[in-house]
Amino acid sequence: MSDEFEPKIVAFFCNWCTYGGADLAGVSRLQYPPNFRAIRLPCTGRMSPKFILEAFRRGADGVWVSGCHPGDCHFIAGNLYARRKFTLLHNMLLNMGLEPGRLHFSWISSAEATKFQDVAIRVIEAVKAAGPNERFVKHRIEVA
Ligand code: FES
Repeated sequence: MSDEFEPKIVAFFCNWCTYGGADLAGVSRLQYPPNFRAIRLPCTGRMSPKFILEAFRRGADGVWVSGCHPGDCHFIAGNLYARRKFTLLHNMLLNMGLEPGRLHFSWISSAEATKFQDVAIRVIEAVKAAGPNERFVKHRIEVA
Protein backbone atom coordinates (compact mmCIF):
# COMPACT_ATOMS: atom_id res chain seq x y z
CA MET A 1 0.00 0.00 0.00
CA SER A 2 1.35 3.41 -0.99
CA ASP A 3 1.74 6.29 1.49
CA GLU A 4 1.07 8.79 -1.29
CA PHE A 5 -1.75 11.23 -0.54
CA GLU A 6 -4.96 10.20 -2.31
CA PRO A 7 -7.39 13.13 -2.37
CA LYS A 8 -11.14 12.80 -1.90
CA ILE A 9 -12.98 14.87 -4.47
CA VAL A 10 -16.70 15.52 -4.63
CA ALA A 11 -17.87 15.94 -8.22
CA PHE A 12 -21.18 17.51 -9.21
CA PHE A 13 -22.04 16.41 -12.76
CA CYS A 14 -24.95 17.39 -14.95
CA ASN A 15 -26.99 14.31 -15.79
CA TRP A 16 -27.26 15.22 -19.49
CA CYS A 17 -23.63 15.75 -20.38
CA THR A 18 -20.69 15.18 -18.03
CA TYR A 19 -22.33 12.24 -16.30
CA GLY A 20 -22.84 10.71 -19.76
CA GLY A 21 -19.22 11.54 -20.62
CA ALA A 22 -18.10 9.71 -17.48
CA ASP A 23 -20.29 6.77 -18.43
CA LEU A 24 -18.86 6.72 -21.95
CA ALA A 25 -15.33 6.89 -20.56
CA GLY A 26 -16.19 3.89 -18.42
CA VAL A 27 -17.63 1.76 -21.23
CA SER A 28 -14.71 2.84 -23.48
CA ARG A 29 -12.36 1.53 -20.75
CA LEU A 30 -10.51 4.84 -20.46
CA GLN A 31 -8.43 4.88 -17.30
CA TYR A 32 -8.41 7.61 -14.66
CA PRO A 33 -7.79 7.52 -10.90
CA PRO A 34 -10.85 6.74 -8.73
CA ASN A 35 -10.47 9.76 -6.45
CA PHE A 36 -13.85 11.37 -6.93
CA ARG A 37 -17.42 10.57 -5.98
CA ALA A 38 -19.90 11.78 -8.57
CA ILE A 39 -23.18 13.39 -7.57
CA ARG A 40 -25.63 13.69 -10.44
CA LEU A 41 -27.53 16.96 -10.86
CA PRO A 42 -30.45 17.57 -13.24
CA CYS A 43 -28.46 20.61 -14.47
CA THR A 44 -25.48 22.51 -13.07
CA GLY A 45 -27.92 25.38 -12.62
CA ARG A 46 -29.31 23.32 -9.71
CA MET A 47 -25.95 23.53 -7.97
CA SER A 48 -26.04 25.68 -4.89
CA PRO A 49 -22.87 27.26 -3.50
CA LYS A 50 -23.93 25.54 -0.27
CA PHE A 51 -23.22 22.13 -1.87
CA ILE A 52 -19.60 23.15 -2.43
CA LEU A 53 -19.19 24.64 1.04
CA GLU A 54 -20.75 21.53 2.62
CA ALA A 55 -18.40 19.25 0.70
CA PHE A 56 -15.39 21.15 2.03
CA ARG A 57 -16.93 21.26 5.51
CA ARG A 58 -17.26 17.48 5.49
CA GLY A 59 -13.64 16.96 4.52
CA ALA A 60 -13.47 16.93 0.73
CA ASP A 61 -10.00 17.84 -0.53
CA GLY A 62 -11.44 19.17 -3.77
CA VAL A 63 -14.69 19.87 -5.59
CA TRP A 64 -15.34 19.57 -9.30
CA VAL A 65 -18.44 20.93 -11.04
CA SER A 66 -19.04 20.03 -14.67
CA GLY A 67 -21.92 20.61 -17.04
CA CYS A 68 -23.09 21.09 -20.60
CA HIS A 69 -21.27 23.38 -23.01
CA PRO A 70 -22.70 26.88 -23.43
CA GLY A 71 -25.69 26.60 -25.78
CA ASP A 72 -26.29 22.91 -24.94
CA CYS A 73 -27.97 23.24 -21.54
CA HIS A 74 -31.35 21.47 -21.45
CA PHE A 75 -32.65 24.34 -19.35
CA ILE A 76 -31.33 27.02 -21.76
CA ALA A 77 -28.99 28.93 -19.45
CA GLY A 78 -28.64 26.85 -16.26
CA ASN A 79 -24.97 26.24 -16.98
CA LEU A 80 -24.34 29.97 -17.45
CA TYR A 81 -26.00 30.74 -14.10
CA ALA A 82 -23.89 27.95 -12.59
CA ARG A 83 -20.69 29.44 -14.00
CA ARG A 84 -21.61 32.84 -12.58
CA LYS A 85 -22.35 31.41 -9.12
CA PHE A 86 -19.22 29.28 -9.28
CA THR A 87 -16.97 32.22 -10.25
CA LEU A 88 -18.27 34.39 -7.43
CA LEU A 89 -17.89 31.60 -4.87
CA HIS A 90 -14.46 30.62 -6.18
CA ASN A 91 -13.18 34.20 -5.85
CA MET A 92 -14.67 34.48 -2.38
CA LEU A 93 -13.09 31.21 -1.24
CA LEU A 94 -9.70 32.19 -2.69
CA ASN A 95 -9.90 35.43 -0.68
CA MET A 96 -10.71 33.33 2.40
CA GLY A 97 -7.55 31.28 1.88
CA LEU A 98 -8.66 28.32 -0.21
CA GLU A 99 -5.65 27.01 -2.10
CA PRO A 100 -5.84 27.36 -5.89
CA GLY A 101 -6.39 23.95 -7.42
CA ARG A 102 -9.06 22.73 -5.01
CA LEU A 103 -12.13 23.93 -6.91
CA HIS A 104 -12.76 23.19 -10.60
CA PHE A 105 -15.40 23.93 -13.22
CA SER A 106 -15.60 22.42 -16.70
CA TRP A 107 -17.84 21.85 -19.69
CA ILE A 108 -17.89 18.24 -20.93
CA SER A 109 -20.52 16.74 -23.24
CA SER A 110 -21.72 13.13 -23.16
CA ALA A 111 -19.71 12.43 -26.33
CA GLU A 112 -16.41 13.67 -24.88
CA ALA A 113 -15.10 10.61 -23.08
CA THR A 114 -11.44 11.44 -23.74
CA LYS A 115 -11.97 15.02 -22.58
CA PHE A 116 -13.60 13.62 -19.44
CA GLN A 117 -10.54 11.45 -18.84
CA ASP A 118 -8.14 14.37 -19.44
CA VAL A 119 -10.02 16.75 -17.14
CA ALA A 120 -10.45 14.09 -14.43
CA ILE A 121 -6.71 13.46 -14.39
CA ARG A 122 -5.96 17.21 -14.36
CA VAL A 123 -8.40 17.86 -11.49
CA ILE A 124 -7.02 14.98 -9.42
CA GLU A 125 -3.41 16.08 -10.00
CA ALA A 126 -4.24 19.68 -9.04
CA VAL A 127 -5.98 18.60 -5.83
CA LYS A 128 -3.12 16.22 -5.03
CA ALA A 129 -0.68 19.11 -5.43
CA ALA A 130 -2.77 21.22 -3.03
CA GLY A 131 -2.48 18.48 -0.37
CA PRO A 132 -5.01 17.49 2.31
CA ASN A 133 -7.69 20.09 2.97
CA GLU A 134 -7.68 21.39 6.54
CA ARG A 135 -9.09 24.88 6.09
CA PHE A 136 -12.86 24.52 6.02
CA VAL A 137 -13.29 21.07 7.58
CA LYS A 138 -15.86 20.89 10.37
CA HIS A 139 -16.18 17.13 10.57
CA ARG A 140 -14.72 14.52 8.31
CA ILE A 141 -17.06 11.97 6.74
CA GLU A 142 -15.31 8.72 5.80
CA VAL A 143 -16.37 7.27 2.48
CA ALA A 144 -15.45 3.85 1.22
FE1 FES B 1 -26.53 20.24 -18.40
FE2 FES B 1 -27.92 22.45 -17.76
S1 FES B 1 -28.68 20.61 -18.53
S2 FES B 1 -25.80 22.07 -17.50
